Amino acid sequence: MTTALQINDVHKWFGNHHVLDGFSLRVEKGDVVGLLGPNGCGKSTVLKIVCKLLDLDAGQVRLMGEPLSELGYRARALVGLCTQHCALYPDLLPAENLHFFARLYGLSDRERQQRVEELMSSFALEKFATTRVGQLSGGWRQRLHLAVSLIHRPKLLVLDEPTAAVDLEARMDLWRFIEGLRDSGTTILLTSHHLAEAERLCSRVALMRNGKVVAEGSVPELLARIPGQAVAKVESEDQQAIAQRSIDLGWTVRQGAGQMRLLLPHDLSLLEIVDALRGIKVSAVSVQPVTLEDAYLELVGDSP
Ligand SMILES: Nc1ncnc2c1ncn2[C@@H]1O[C@H](COP(=O)(O)OP(=O)(O)OP(=O)(O)O)[C@@H](O)[C@H]1O
Ligand SMILES: [Mg+2]
Repeated sequence: MTTALQINDVHKWFGNHHVLDGFSLRVEKGDVVGLLGPNGCGKSTVLKIVCKLLDLDAGQVRLMGEPLSELGYRARALVGLCTQHCALYPDLLPAENLHFFARLYGLSDRERQQRVEELMSSFALEKFATTRVGQLSGGWRQRLHLAVSLIHRPKLLVLDEPTAAVDLEARMDLWRFIEGLRDSGTTILLTSHHLAEAERLCSRVALMRNGKVVAEGSVPELLARIPGQAVAKVESEDQQAIAQRSIDLGWTVRQGAGQMRLLLPHDLSLLEIVDALRGIKVSAVSVQPVTLEDAYLELVGDSP
């Protein structure tokens, strides 16, 4: 059995609000799957259902091959959840927090001692051994939170915007930890609004809109669905002329968010683009290979 999580045609209503509308997703063991989509599209709702913090209204979820409905609270032992809102005790020390959650998950005394030492060391938390969690910086608190979510060796790690509330340095730091977990074979389902984060960490990405997955695949697979290999971003007073010239050249024109994006069928240099747009007033132009952001704009529509 290679599938860690299988979600089939799940529906969820909050009152009249149909939040999940036939959501399906499969996470293979060892995969890091990123769930991306605009605010309110239902990402956290999916994660809460997987972690049994919410019930679904219709559909099926299988965790490690077993129906979630039959797993009952055993499901909690299989998943580890880390959200952007820290569920840590601010008056306790880092190790005390880890011990607390280890007890909650029913680890034996020996196992608990060993696991706490292991996590304090692998997350380099020893240097804050005597600092109360409330006094830790946001980045270190999130690092501890990640350690807590791993205390019971979950089969599936669920991260809801793990780096949303931390600064750039802490984010890079957390990325390295998550990469370490990925490289050691941990199965992870995460949500993020940072496309660069998903591009760096995820083996597969699911793009979500209005309660369902609209596209899914590895980053190269999603990039292959863009009608272009490179994107030129152009600022010009004469957008109509740019659009017409682009169409004549066989380029795909995308307009929105105050910017013109030209999807080019193959990589062109800046000089070649400027030359192709000769005779039209252009105030700025840049070109780069397509990224997950372009796939997102193409397949989801809105900005991330
Ligand atoms: N307990 C609840 N009761 C009522 N409505 C809810 C509840 N939880 C979420 N919602 C609504 O369901 C929709 C989806 O919420 P969810 O938190 O899953 O979105 P999200 O994709 O995680 O968004 P974000 O990117 O902002 O975190 C939103 O419109 C939200 O207001
Ligand atoms: Mg959310």
